[in-house]
Order: sequence, then structure tokens, then C-alpha cells
Amino acid sequence: MERIHITDVSPRDGLQNQQVQVSTADKLELIRLLAAAGVQSVEATSFVSPKAVPQMADAGELVARLNAAALPGLRSSVLVPNLKGLERAHAAGAREIAVVLSATETMNRKNINMGLQEATEVSAQTLAEAQRLGMRTRAYVAVAFDCPFEGETPLSEVVRLAARMREEGAGEIVIADTIGSASPGQVKARLGALREVVPVAQLAVHFHDTRGMGVANAWAALEAGVRRFDASVGGIGGCPFAPGAAGNVATEDLVLMAERSGFSTGISIDGLLDAVDFAEAQLQRALGGRAITWLRRQREKERGTQAARTA
Ligand code: HMG
Ligand code: MG
Repeated sequence: MERIHITDVSPRDGLQNQQVQVSTADKLELIRLLAAAGVQSVEATSFVSPKAVPQMADAGELVARLNAAALPGLRSSVLVPNLKGLERAHAAGAREIAVVLSATETMNRKNINMGLQEATEVSAQTLAEAQRLGMRTRAYVAVAFDCPFEGETPLSEVVRLAARMREEGAGEIVIADTIGSASPGQVKARLGALREVVPVAQLAVHFHDTRGMGVANAWAALEAGVRRFDASVGGIGGCPFAPGAAGNVATEDLVLMAERSGFSTGISIDGLLDAVDFAEAQLQRALGGRAITWLRRQREKERGTQAARTA
């Protein structure tokens, strides 16, 4: 079976916009549960302004404790918007960063208080410095389909910025549907054009699931040759500065779709359900992707069968 690689972004994208403040210990427990489920890569936190995103104010402590925990087989990255974020991340012991560049003027201003030109240069400088420090790098190209402020994002801009981030040495270019407005046909068309400027092995996709098309979009990306996906356990997530954005495509939905379609992920759905249960207890509300009811029923059935066998 062909392998796909999933980065679970729930500790960052999932928790950055929650009403409830989750403690550092509970964030670590969520990451531990993800690792126990077989997740090999997480986006653990972000080094952004604590005034802008109070939920991520404990980034330094989280990274230090995560490194000390040395969870086997787990790679973790952190989001940084500028050189100050990189400096803080490096000092805390982070080994992989992601910069975030939006493909429109207004989204950059709302998200990181810079215009497109400045955001591009700052992302380039941050990538260069991270490489000098020996860190692995990812670069998000956000609002790669539609912008909540400017409407449909010109494909030529998305291609230009993805190519630039590749030239600047980003190891992975993450094409992000920030407000979850993409449809599979668009995903196929845009990834076809992006493949012309970025080797497909370096492309990743990051879908939000606002309109229920996250899994269908992931399938379109798979068919376009992409093998790297972001997802969030329980489907939690959303950018606080992008009105109308719902959560990310749920990791459990993506794993279900991929495994049923002949791809391996190395991730156990039962393990993910433990992480969803834990996140529900922390956030005090019902979570889960589109398949959650069916997945839980399956788990109950299997537990019942196992109990009958051992009785
Ligand atoms: P600013 O106010 O323009 O920054 O914010 P500044 O350079 O003028 O500095 C103002 C203060 O912030 C100063 O402190 C700086 O030192 C400090 P003061 O002198 O007032 O005490 N500062 C920082 N502090 C901590 N960490 C930093 C940092 N940089 C400056 N890195 C800034 C600019 C980018 C910092 C701010 O706008 C910010 O933090 N924005 C948050 C952006 C964010 O977290 N967005 C959500 C994540 S992106 C996302 O969700 C999309 C994604 O999932 C993909 C998708 O779905 O599309 C990735
Ligand atoms: Mg996102």
C-alpha cells in the first residue's frame, strides 16, 4: 500500500481559536495521545504575539516540555510569522518551523499586520534564517482558493508565491484553503498548475471543512499526486482572523478515507478517537468529523466482540 503523510495541526490550528483556554499539560497530553495513535507529525504551537492569539502564549514552555518528553517517532513543527517568532522558537528548542504567507493583500494585513510584499519578504528572510540554523521548514500559502475579504484568489498569485517559497528553500509548500471554500474540481485544477512549479513530493494540502468538502478535496489532491496532508483531530480549527472559517478536515475522516481507498497512514482510528474524547473533555463540547458517529459505533461493536471472545 502506498503511504501518505499526515500532519495533525490540532494543537495549533485546532486550539488557537477556542473559547476555553487549554493548559500546557493538557496540550501535551493531546499530543501524546496523537503520537500513541501513530501520528508521526504534529504542528505543536505557534510563536505569535500573545496579544493576537492568547491561546498560544505558552509556546516556549510547550516546546521545551515536548522535547523533554521525547515521544518516539514524532516530528513536531511550530508556526512562526516573522524573525522574532523564529528566534523564540529556536531558543525554546524547536527544530522545524512553518511560515504563513497569504496570497492576498488584505488577508496578510488582517493576519500578520503586513502587506503582501512585506509578508513575502519577511517569510523569505525567516526561511533563510531557519535554514541557517539547521531547521526544517514549511511554508503555508494561505487563502489559496478564496479570500474572505477579496473573493477568489487569482491562481497566478498562488503559483507565483508557491514558486517563490520553493526558491527560498521551503522544504514543504502547504496549499491552504483557509475558509474551506474549495471544491474538488478546483483542487485538481490548482494543484495541476502548482505541480508545474513545485515538485509534487514537496506539496502539502491544508483543507478546512466549512462546506463539508474537506475529504472530497483531499481525494482530489490524492488523485493529483499529493501525498502530504494537514488535518486536525476532531475537526477542530480555524484562523481567528479569517471570518467564516470552520475547523480543519478531521484527521479521523482523512485516515478513514485514505485507508479505505488503498493508502496506508500508520495511524489507528481507535487511537484518534481517544484523542477526540480527550479534546471533548477539555473543550467541553461535542467534536469530531463527518464520520464520528459511525466510527464510535464501530468501536463499541469491536469492543463488544472482543469482550464476548474473552468471556
Ligand atoms: P504587530 O503588532 O504588527 O507586530 O504584530 P510588531 O512587529 O509591530 O510588534 C508588536 C509587538 O509584538 C511587539 O511587542 C513585538 O515585540 C511583538 P511590544 O513591543 O508591543 O511589547 N511581537 C511578537 N511577540 C511574540 N511573538 C512574535 C512577535 N512578533 C512581534 N512572533 C504579528 C505582528 C505577526 C506578531 C501579529 O500580527 C501576530 O502575532 N499575528 C498572529 C497571527 C496568527 O497566529 N494567525 C493564526 C495562524 S495562521 C492560520 O491559522 C492559517 C493557517 O492555518 C493556514 C490556513 O488555514 O490557511 C496556517
Ligand atoms: Mg488553517
